[in-house]
Amino acid sequence: HSQSLIPQPGLLAEPGRSAHYLEMNLHPDADTAEICTALDRARQSRPEVYIAVAFGADAWQRLQPAWHPADLQSFGELRGNNGYTMPATQRDVFFWIHGEDQGEVMNAVLQVHEAMRDVAATLLDLNGFKNREARDLTGFVDGTANPKGDKRLDAAVIPEGETGAGGSYVFSQKWRHHLQAFNQLSVHEQEQVIGRTKQDNVELEGDAMPPTSHVSRTDVKIDGVGQKIYRRSTPYGGAEEHGLYFLAFACNLRRISVQLERMLGNSGDGYSDHLMKYSTALTGAYWFMPSQSDLNALL
Ligand code: HEM
Ligand code: MG
Repeated sequence: HSQSLIPQPGLLAEPGRSAHYLEMNLHPDADTAEICTALDRARQSRPEVYIAVAFGADAWQRLQPAWHPADLQSFGELRGNNGYTMPATQRDVFFWIHGEDQGEVMNAVLQVHEAMRDVAATLLDLNGFKNREARDLTGFVDGTANPKGDKRLDAAVIPEGETGAGGSYVFSQKWRHHLQAFNQLSVHEQEQVIGRTKQDNVELEGDAMPPTSHVSRTDVKIDGVGQKIYRRSTPYGGAEEHGLYFLAFACNLRRISVQLERMLGNSGDGYSDHLMKYSTALTGAYWFMPSQSDLNALL
């Protein structure tokens, strides 16, 4: 990756204790200057917080008519052979705001929101947090099989030579957990749903690994190439409603859609992801997160 292709700040800054997600629809007269000004001001006054911005396909076309990343499209509803549906709630702009301190993250959120108030309507406004040992609210460690070091860039960033190089395709999906049902399973049954052990976080092996586990459905190779993505999900919520805000970055969109279709039982092998019995997808959107230089060029 050449120096000119710098991702937006915070892509690889893990793990913050706090994250906030804003999904917005732009008013018809909104222009790029307002968005970039909102972003620049908030970044300057909150240097300890990472603020990244990404765009839906329609919004990107409007804001940057000169070029379009090859894979970028709106997320459409996916219907599974497993009887479950992944709804589409595509919006225009996504702000990913994260850092160590929940108060400073919130201050940045307020600042971005205030600066965007005249040009956009906020449709998702969600705070996420890091749980002990990066465990999801199911109690399983999340993020273990993520690529490490520079391999994160290989998985997450559009390579040089392609339109949008240095940027990322992004997928966000808010999941609501049904913990009462999940917690009624024995730990052994829970481990078969996930595909790793709960306490020690070891991947199940051989016959012990069900083809319907979450790991089996998402650990995919195509023509010998592991379809790695870089996940930065966090738990969210309160006592009544809670779950995972799934957030992933990829060098192409197929890596993500292939995993979703395998979870839904649409990949032709007859299996689907048993995690979907215990968690429901409430939103879904694809975004393009331009490199910092492509973002600067919007102005
Ligand atoms: C692995 C949780 C949704 C892709 C995992 C693991 C957990 C987990 C506990 C095992 C540890 C790890 O390697 O991170 C969840 C929960 C979800 C969810 C609670 C929502 C309710 C998704 C979705 C995708 C996905 C929607 C794909 C678009 C992956 C991948 C792995 C993984 C690629 C690593 C597989 C491997 O190579 O071992 N997830 N996940 N997850 N998940 Fe998810
Ligand atoms: Mg594996």
